[in-house]
Amino acid sequence: MELCHGGDMLEAAVKKFYTMTNIVSAIKQLVLTLAAVEDSIEFEHRDLHMGNVLAGHDPNKPILEFDVCGDVYKVPSNGWVITIIDFTLSRLQSEDCVIFTDLSKEMTLFDGGRTMTRLMQAVREDNGNDWKTFNPQSNVRWILFLLRELIKRCEHTVKLKGLLTRLERYKSCYQMLPHFDEIFDMTKK
Ligand SMILES: Nc1ncnc2c1ncn2[C@@H]1O[C@H](COP(=O)(O)OP(=O)(O)OP(=O)(O)O)[C@@H](O)[C@H]1O
Ligand SMILES: [Mg+2]
Repeated sequence: MELCHGGDMLEAAVKKFYTMTNIVSAIKQLVLTLAAVEDSIEFEHRDLHMGNVLAGHDPNKPILEFDVCGDVYKVPSNGWVITIIDFTLSRLQSEDCVIFTDLSKEMTLFDGGRTMTRLMQAVREDNGNDWKTFNPQSNVRWILFLLRELIKRCEHTVKLKGLLTRLERYKSCYQMLPHFDEIFDMTKK
């Protein structure tokens, strides 16, 4: 198997990455990617922190096309292609079995008051500590986490906070699809 170089992790991405245009594009790419796999394989990533999302610079791909549930979404990339990695904690349905990591007896990931720990605690509350079940809200929680982290690094916070508020209403990325243009209408506050 050959692994492509996906770019730098968002945590370390060069400062010029953190513009509103790039951040909106990154969130769109993540929503569409996750919506597609929520629908096809009941996928939850479950560990989508800044080290597990890569931004690769590719000026040859100004428009990215996502074929999601029969519809094609075109996302201006501004030259940045987002890739998700590290599926250690992920959950998916494969034919007749569920592949997942059982965190029901795990302590350290849930111990403490850090933002990421609180996120893990919220996901555990959503799934009742049954990690086999499919709760795509975890994907939304992680996207909100990433967007909050990106907002800290960007100057256009008002509009990005508006986007955050609109995304917060959804329980899965799939559920966002019919409202995609409205959610990402950045002329709104
Ligand atoms: N396809 C890739 N392209 C570029 N860099 C990558 C790629 N895959 C992994 N990396 C780099 O390696 C780092 C670690 O990879 P990964 O997240 O898969 O393992 P890990 O963090 O050690 O695993 P875990 O989080 O389970 O401990 C990433 O943060 C990234 O910097
Ligand atoms: Mg990792």
